[in-house]
Formats: sequence, C-alpha cells, structure tokens
Amino acid sequence: MDKKKLIAVYPGTFDPLTNGHISLVKRGLDIFEEIILAVALHSPKIPLFSLQERVDMARKTFEHMDNVLVEPFEGLLIDYVRSKKARAILRGMRAVADFELEFQMALMNRRLDRNIQTVFLMTDYKWLYISSTLIKDVAKLGGDIHGVVPENVQKELYKKFGRMV
Ligand code: COA
Repeated sequence: MDKKKLIAVYPGTFDPLTNGHISLVKRGLDIFEEIILAVALHSPKIPLFSLQERVDMARKTFEHMDNVLVEPFEGLLIDYVRSKKARAILRGMRAVADFELEFQMALMNRRLDRNIQTVFLMTDYKWLYISSTLIKDVAKLGGDIHGVVPENVQKELYKKFGRMV
C-alpha cells in the first residue's frame, strides 16, 4: 500500500531561529516523518532579518537533517500547509502567556480547514525563558548569547549589530 508520509509544517517568523526552535523540531520528529520549517513573510512582527536571511540561517542549521526542510512561505498558512499535503501544524507552547494567541490561531486554522490538526508540544524547560526578541536585545546590548542560538545564528546576530566575532 502506498503510505502517505506524515508531514508537519512548523511555521514561525524565526527572526532568528533559536535553540528552543531546534529542540522543538527534534522532538517533533519523534511524531512526524518530515517537518517543514516554514519561515513566514507575513507575520505581525517587523523582522530584523530579511526573509532570505532567516531562511538561510535555518537551512544551514538543519543541513545535516534530510527529514527537515526549510522553506519561505507567504500568504495564508493553511493554504501553504494544504499545498504541502501536510497533516498537521506543529507549534511550541512556552508558558501560559503563549496560550491565548496560540488558541486563537489554532481555532482559526481549524475553521479554515478541519482536516488539518494543530499539534502543540510543550517547550523543553531549558528554553522556557527565551524568545527571539529577548535574544536580539541581549545581542544588541553586547551580552553573551552563546548557547541559546546555533553558532551560525550567533555570528549573524553579532554581524548585524556590528560586533566583532
Ligand atoms: N523555544 C523558544 N522560543 C520559542 C519557541 C521555542 N520552542 N517557540 C516559539 N518561540 C518564541 C519565538 O522566538 C518568538 O519570539 P518573539 O515573539 O520574541 O519573536 C515567539 O516565541 C513566537 O514566535 P514564532 O513561534 O516564530 O511564531 P510567530 O508568532 O512569530 O508566528 C505565524 C506566527 C507566522 C505562524 C502566524 O503569524 C502565521 O501563520 N502567519 C501567516 C498568515 C496567516 O495565515 N495568518 C492567520 C493565522 S490563523
């Protein structure tokens, strides 16, 4: 029988990708056969990195994992998920503060397509306190971000803020 691959789309702004995101992808692969990390052009935030820069950084990070695909996407998430024949949207939940917006997005996406499920994983406790905004802030003000982002992202962040690496 021709079995369809179990694919999940993990959408986000990824401005930039953090170790929290990487941990979530790895754990998602315990459930799904392939994860598409979908980097959004349209997000409510104004990103520091261009779409191409965000995609390139994430691609470099996952280049050794052939079950992780990094792609840019624009427009409605649900249309993109459908076009990839994915069964689920994967999202991480860090704290209660994330819940309300995640709940709204999951319900809206369900309304748009009832065949696509949103699957939440609790973020590993090690990454509960981090966010892309916090990391950018620390990097900008000269703080040490070693260990919370992959090395290639750390370099790009320091470059953006004119720091020597
Ligand atoms: N560990 C650490 N941090 C994490 C994390 C994890 N596991 N998961 C998320 N975060 C952080 C991110 O760093 C980010 O921090 P920031 O707010 O400081 O930037 C924050 O949590 C949430 O970011 P992210 O997970 O990237 O989601 P998002 O809110 O940026 O993405 C989209 C929202 C892109 C998925 C949503 O706007 C979308 O679907 N857009 C497409 C248009 C559309 O279809 N809209 C209708 C949706 S119903």
